[in-house]
Amino acid sequence: MSKKSSAERTKNVPPATTYKPYSSRSYNDNENLVTSDDNDYISSMFSMKIKWVWFASSKIDLKEQLKTQSIKPKKIGSRLVLMVHHDDELFLVKDKCPHQGASLTNATCEDGMIVCPWHRYGFDLKTGRGAGLCLDTYPIEERDDGLYAGFEYFSWFGE
Ligand code: FES
Repeated sequence: MSKKSSAERTKNVPPATTYKPYSSRSYNDNENLVTSDDNDYISSMFSMKIKWVWFASSKIDLKEQLKTQSIKPKKIGSRLVLMVHHDDELFLVKDKCPHQGASLTNATCEDGMIVCPWHRYGFDLKTGRGAGLCLDTYPIEERDDGLYAGFEYFSWFGE
C-alpha cells in the first residue's frame, strides 16, 4: 500500500452531506470509499441464497413418524439433519453438536432446547443458540406437495 499525503487522501472523499456513519463505510484496495452503488454491485456478486429440498409429504405424516421417537435422523440432500417434534412443533437441526461435533441423535428435548447427550449443553430449537455456541437450524416450508427444508448457501455471481 502506498503512502498518500492527506490532500491525496481527502481527494476521493465525498462531500460531508453524503457521509455514511464510520461503521458502515468501506474502502477498496486503493483506499477509495466504496459508494452504495459499488456495494450494490458487490452484493449482487456475493450473497446468501436458500435452496429448498422436499423431505416429507405433510406435517401430519411427519408428526406420525415422530410419534414414538421425537428426534429422528434423516439425510436430506447431502446433509444429515435431525427431525424434531417438540411441544407440537416441528424443527430441523444439524446432526452435529457445535461443541465437539458429536451426533445429536440421542439428544433429548427440554423446555424448547435440544440437549446434547455428551456434555448436556442445550441449544434453542428455534435459533440454535446455547452455551455461547450456535447449532445450525433449518426452516421448514409447507407447500401443496409436502414439506421442504431450507438450506442456506453462499452464492458467487448469483449462481
Ligand atoms: S459434544 Fe455436545 S455438548 Fe459437548
